[in-house]
Order: sequence, then structure tokens, then C-alpha cells
Amino acid sequence: MIIQLSDVYIPKELLHREKQLNEIRNVFLNFKKFKCGTNLAIFGVTGSGKTTLVKKVIEEEDNSIYLTCSETITTHKTIKSIFNLRCQTHEEVLRLTIKKLKENPKIIIIDEIDKIKDINNLFNDLNTIYRNTMLPIIIITLKRNILKSMPVDARKTLFFERLRLPSYNANELRDILDSRLEQIEMELPPFEEGVRNYLSAISASNGSARTLIYMTLKCIQKGNFNQEFIDEVYKEMMKEDWFQFMDDLSETEKEFLKSLLDYCDWENETYSEVLQKKLGFSQSRVSQILNVFEKYAIIETHHKNMGRYGGRKRIIKFASEEIYNQLEGRI
Ligand SMILES: Nc1ncnc2c1ncn2[C@@H]1O[C@H](COP(=O)(O)OP(=O)(O)OP(=O)(O)O)[C@@H](O)[C@H]1O
Ligand SMILES: [Mg+2]
Repeated sequence: MIIQLSDVYIPKELLHREKQLNEIRNVFLNFKKFKCGTNLAIFGVTGSGKTTLVKKVIEEEDNSIYLTCSETITTHKTIKSIFNLRCQTHEEVLRLTIKKLKENPKIIIIDEIDKIKDINNLFNDLNTIYRNTMLPIIIITLKRNILKSMPVDARKTLFFERLRLPSYNANELRDILDSRLEQIEMELPPFEEGVRNYLSAISASNGSARTLIYMTLKCIQKGNFNQEFIDEVYKEMMKEDWFQFMDDLSETEKEFLKSLLDYCDWENETYSEVLQKKLGFSQSRVSQILNVFEKYAIIETHHKNMGRYGGRKRIIKFASEEIYNQLEGRI
């Protein structure tokens, strides 16, 4: 394994992210100076550098607590793991966490927040922590819309500033690749211009530096730099993602997805009652399934008041044209 091409490696330089890096730095610097600061919601597609940017700033300024929800999954475990507490009740955990944070103030960083099953509970807890400590909170998410679905009270108090990391284009990815290859000390086979350009161009289709780095590693490992081979690796990677997603779906969820595809193409919206009627599911079942798809960033939903007689409707839309097309091809 070449450490410089693994996910744990923090690159020496982070290219094309100067502005975003400074915004994160500012939170840390303000905290250092004034012991308070802005709350930040960092969002961007997978591989856009969210985790890496934050880890870079943590390297420079060590005054934060970093957690990732891919390990904790529930609100209770997330709050518990801020200080590795072992209490019986959740209220006790929350109370002790606040007490400890007051004694030892730190910025709280919560990565991969979309993995949390009961996210509203987490937002409510963060709200309580913030009200009691005023410590800056940074959350990291794949979803543009996460703040919309937040409980109103929490949203108003926490008042997250949004920091968007755009997907990388081919030129930016090319720079990232060149810089990363330079950081590798061991002798590498020559990476020709054409190969570098091709890797960057392919990865630009999902804008992910992770895709780029993974494919580069594969080329080195197999000693193969042909376009056909690179295409194969890319296809396999994309398949893996989708297989994983599809595998995780229950039969009911698949049936639901089919109906959804019947009712809206990617530009149109529909609302939950339509699907409820079509499938004969209960309202709570439909809303549960919608939450799953929203968590995976397949769809986006929001609530809308339809006037006095229309009531409140949950509007549903596919997250992007690309996702819509891929689903259509696979279901
Ligand atoms: N601007 C950059 N310069 C150099 N390398 C980068 C840059 N952005 C991302 N990378 C590299 O791309 C890979 C993926 O980045 P990272 O893990 O930060 O993505 P992420 O946005 O957190 O993705 P996910 O949502 O899947 O967690 C890492 O290996 C990281 O080093
Ligand atoms: Mg990450």
C-alpha cells in the first residue's frame, strides 16, 4: 500500500480550496481569540474534500473534538463519544457532556452526520449543548438540504453558516493528481501526460478526488495504464456504489422506488400522498421510506403548506438528473 494514496493520508497541500480552508480556519481562530465562533455546515459530494479540509485545520490548531457518525450511528452514541462517557440515561450523558465542555471548551466537529438514524434528536441535543456552552459546532454532510429538515427551534438557535465544496472539475483534479504523485517517495512507473489527463477527466464525472486517487492506486498496483483498464476500474467502482445501495434496499423499498420513478421524472415533483394511495402503504411507512432515500441523497423532500384545504404536503424530488437516470437503468 502506498500511504500517500490511502484515505488516511492528509496531503501536504490542498489545492483549489483556499477560500473554504480559510473559512474553516476562521472558525478556529475566532474560537482561540474569543472562545466562541460561528457554526458551520460543510456540504459537498463524496470525495470533495470535506473530511480532509477539516483534518488539515485540526492539524494546525488542536482545539477541537472530532467525531464521525459512520462509527456512532445513533444520537445517543454520538453524544456519549464526545467524552467517551458511560452513563445510564441520555439526560445524564448530555448533562455531563455540557459540564465537561464548560470546563474544557472545544470546537465540536461532527462528520458524516447523514449516517445518523435519528437526526432530529441529534440536532436537538446540539441545540441544548450550544445554548449552554456557546461553543462552535461544525457539521459535515452530503446533503444540501439538511438544514431545511432541522427542527425549527434548533435551526434558529444554531444558525449554521453554509460552506459548500463544489465538485472538482477535470483541471482541478489534474492538479491534485500531479501534486499527490509528487508526494510519493518511492519509485513509480512513469505516468504519462495522457494517462494523467484521462484519469482526471473520468473522475470529473462525479467530481470526486477520492475516485481519482483510488483509480491511480489501481493503475500502479496492476501496472496497467491503458484507457480500457481505467474504464473498467471506474465502472466497477460505480457499480459497487450502486450494488451496495440496491443490496441494502428491502423489497418494499424497491417497489416504492419503482412507483416514484413512474410518478416523477427528475425535473418534476410529486408528493407523498400520491405514493401512499398508489401503494396502499400507511402514512408513517411512506415517511419512513422517504427518510431512507433522503439519507442516501437519492431524493430531496420538503414540506409545503397548500393553503387552508390542501393541508401540509411533503414534496418529493429526485436529487439530480444523474441519479434519476442511473436508477431508471437499474430498477
Ligand atoms: N483539494 C484537495 N487537494 C488534494 N487532495 C484532496 C483534495 N480534496 C480531496 N482530496 C483527497 O481526496 C480524497 C477524498 O477526500 P475526503 O475524504 O476529504 O472527501 P469527503 O468530501 O470527506 O468525502 P465523503 O463524503 O465520502 O466522506 C482524500 O484522499 C483527499 O486526500
Ligand atoms: Mg468524509
